[in-house]
Amino acid sequence: RESDRAAVRRVLLPSPRSFCAGVERAIEIVERLLEQHGPPVYVRNQIVHNAHVVAGLEAKGAVFVSELDEVPEHALVVFSAHGVAPAVEAEAARRGLDAVDATCPLVAKVHAEAKRAADAGDTVILIGHDGHEEVAGTLGVAPGRTVLVETVEGVAEVRVADREKVTYLSQTTLSVSEVEEIAAALRARFPNIRGQGAEDICYATSNRQAAVAAVVDEADLVLVVGSANSSNSNRLVELAAAAGVEAHLIEDAAAIDPAWLDAAGTVAVTAGASAPPVLVDEVVAAIAAAGPIEVVERRVADEPQEFLLPQRLRTHDAPAP
Ligand code: F3S
Repeated sequence: RESDRAAVRRVLLPSPRSFCAGVERAIEIVERLLEQHGPPVYVRNQIVHNAHVVAGLEAKGAVFVSELDEVPEHALVVFSAHGVAPAVEAEAARRGLDAVDATCPLVAKVHAEAKRAADAGDTVILIGHDGHEEVAGTLGVAPGRTVLVETVEGVAEVRVADREKVTYLSQTTLSVSEVEEIAAALRARFPNIRGQGAEDICYATSNRQAAVAAVVDEADLVLVVGSANSSNSNRLVELAAAAGVEAHLIEDAAAIDPAWLDAAGTVAVTAGASAPPVLVDEVVAAIAAAGPIEVVERRVADEPQEFLLPQRLRTHDAPAP
């Protein structure tokens, strides 16, 4: 026991982890609108899938709603980072709402691909998880021409109008390896299908997966900070579990079961793209409270990405010429 207590636990921090550029942009949009207009600022759906982020913005005066009919006429409403179907934008316009779009540009890119393919007469096969808000938005781009496939087995069920005119796309926050498998099954069934492998999966999702994959063999325990409805966070837990390592999705440090740490000499701590970095710091502090630790950062990629705010929210703080 004495020697156990003296042993230094290693805490591996796979990097990149935590906030991505799309999440930072979406949060900043709501914050700037709150500053410029004062509360309330309505937000359709959770701005990003994180309970701490939502609670923090609520405390500043954001009001989260699930349907536009909960927003008073002419009020300011923000569309979440996950994107919305064109029908939702049309409804906002019909009701005279002042809508600001916080859709991540990488989700918007998938919407544009769906529109281009559908306009060219293709059936669009969307690889994604039913019920996720991003999927609801992307399915809504070309509702009559888009079908959802969730698994390799689901590929056999897909019905298309013309086997020669098919394009596949994917949700941005899935498992890279799973999408590659489903894409391979689609190519086997529709040899002329158009699509780009797992390329619709965003850089942040694939980097966080690669970072966990790089450390998982050394870890006895993987803790992923993120909310239960965060797609990319859940994929990180699955990746670690598939490698045979105990892994848990935790909302924050309070969710750590001390028993998990007992036999864990090396703990990897990461966070989904919607989870604030401070929550990771708090998890590391909680592990440190259970015994001495050595923290090791393991970076697999740099993330220089930054997304411009919508035009109306940009400040011009560059010095005058
Ligand atoms: Fe965008 Fe990917 Fe983040 S789609 S919001 S960069 S997780």
